[in-house]
Amino acid sequence: MKICCIGAGHVGGPTMAMIALKCPDVRVTVVDINKERIAGWNSNQLPVYEPGLSEVVKQCRGRNLFFSTDVDEAIQASDMIFVSVNTPTKTYGIGAGRAADLRYWEQCARRIAAVSNGNKIVVEKSTLPVRTAESLRAVLKANGRGCRFEILSNPEFLAEGTAIQDLENPDRVLIGNDDTNSGRAASKKLVEIYARWVPHEKILTSNIWSSELSKLVANAFLAQRVSSINSISALCEATGADVDEVAAAIGRDSRVGPKFLKASVGFGGSCFQKDISNLIYLCEHYGLHEVAEYWSQVIKINDWQKSRFTRRMVETMFNTVAGKRIAILGFAFKKDTNDTRESPAIYVCRDLLNEQAQLSIYDPRVTEVAIRHDLEAATALPGASFQKRITVEKDAYAAVESAHAVAILTEWDEFRNLDYNRIRQVMLKPGFIFDGRNILSPEASPMLCPGVYGIGKPNASART
Ligand code: UDX
Ligand code: ADP
Repeated sequence: MKICCIGAGHVGGPTMAMIALKCPDVRVTVVDINKERIAGWNSNQLPVYEPGLSEVVKQCRGRNLFFSTDVDEAIQASDMIFVSVNTPTKTYGIGAGRAADLRYWEQCARRIAAVSNGNKIVVEKSTLPVRTAESLRAVLKANGRGCRFEILSNPEFLAEGTAIQDLENPDRVLIGNDDTNSGRAASKKLVEIYARWVPHEKILTSNIWSSELSKLVANAFLAQRVSSINSISALCEATGADVDEVAAAIGRDSRVGPKFLKASVGFGGSCFQKDISNLIYLCEHYGLHEVAEYWSQVIKINDWQKSRFTRRMVETMFNTVAGKRIAILGFAFKKDTNDTRESPAIYVCRDLLNEQAQLSIYDPRVTEVAIRHDLEAATALPGASFQKRITVEKDAYAAVESAHAVAILTEWDEFRNLDYNRIRQVMLKPGFIFDGRNILSPEASPMLCPGVYGIGKPNASART
């Protein structure tokens, strides 16, 4: 069996590496039009940072895992083609800001149709709007030169930062297929691949539309939990309750469960906002305005949480941060990834720059180029002037030197273990610490108490 994956990103790369690891007899080729990305996958500096990923890639690369820019050859050589290209939110035209931009997907479908020289199974791996399979079928059929294409939906549920463990031991694998003999046969082939390491009872099959919709709904439910606890964090700050205590108490109810109740500066990542926007667009398309409005609130609370964080910083720092040096610890949207898509840090930094602050930014995995690029894209400020107000530092201690305040925006483990006594000494007085991830515990480090502002935590001054 030969498979290929079009799109060597955060989903395609790790997923194919895991399939290659678990199925040594299957030849897996990952292709991408981005030459630098492919060169990265063929080097020791992988373009995606994920704990455990480089070990898996090293084990399989050159054996049954290959990375290439030759898309056509890979399509022709494969029985099964996964498509895992980016499907960002549209920034133009109809549905701008909500609908998914399917141009990369359609380009792939047209390429598959144009170069295929035999029957293929095409697997949707990217998150797609519901009923995309139907459009794909139309594109493939109209251009397919007599080849037969079976379309499967196999949404990816891995979370970045834990991709390898999620792939190795998934809660479930979902495969959607057409309710036809050939659809069921194609699904069986994909089930057989996963069954090499995933127990059968965890492999769910469904119709294609259910599978496509499940991905959007899973992310909407997860994001909703984060927005729910974040909304309560504001009430905790107002009343003196502690959001972690509230989360622990409600999470003990087995109907609620303990996961995804960590209040934060806001959720980020390439999926949550995009998938909810997509869901909202879909509801509106079907005239379900109340349902669309319901899910819109999840995004609204998230936007509010991010701006609330900056407002609290400014208010606490005597209503001005103009000219003040503020250390930003963490830029990735969560720990253990170098991905910054929709990272709350981008919006907090943008708002602080609008308030005329100077920023010294440190993230253990995000490059200076990526940070400057993200801020350039997010601010309406002319590049040259605001870029001068940013420095990107090589470690946390350099970032906090002479800072008026520190904002912790990603929960990297190394930030838990910093020497906060030393940090206090090199900061200007009074030094404020805004803990956007609630990683600092006043109980563990009492010297932190005054001047530490956590999310949904009793006000620091109330504790002094
Ligand atoms: C998500 C889904 O979890 C995954 O199943 C899907 O395949 C892709 O989208 P991902 O975006 O990689 O994965 O990360 P996730 O762990 O879900 O975190 C998303 C955001 O929510 C991060 O910014 C994270 O910091 C934030 N978050 C998560 C919280 O603020 N609190 C929580 O309790 C959990
Ligand atoms: P995800 O997080 O969904 O994996 P990424 O943006 O990390 O998304 O990766 C998507 C990849 O798909 C990118 O590396 C991009 O270059 C690639 N890609 C987009 N369009 C095509 C195409 N037509 N052919 C091949 N690769 C493509």
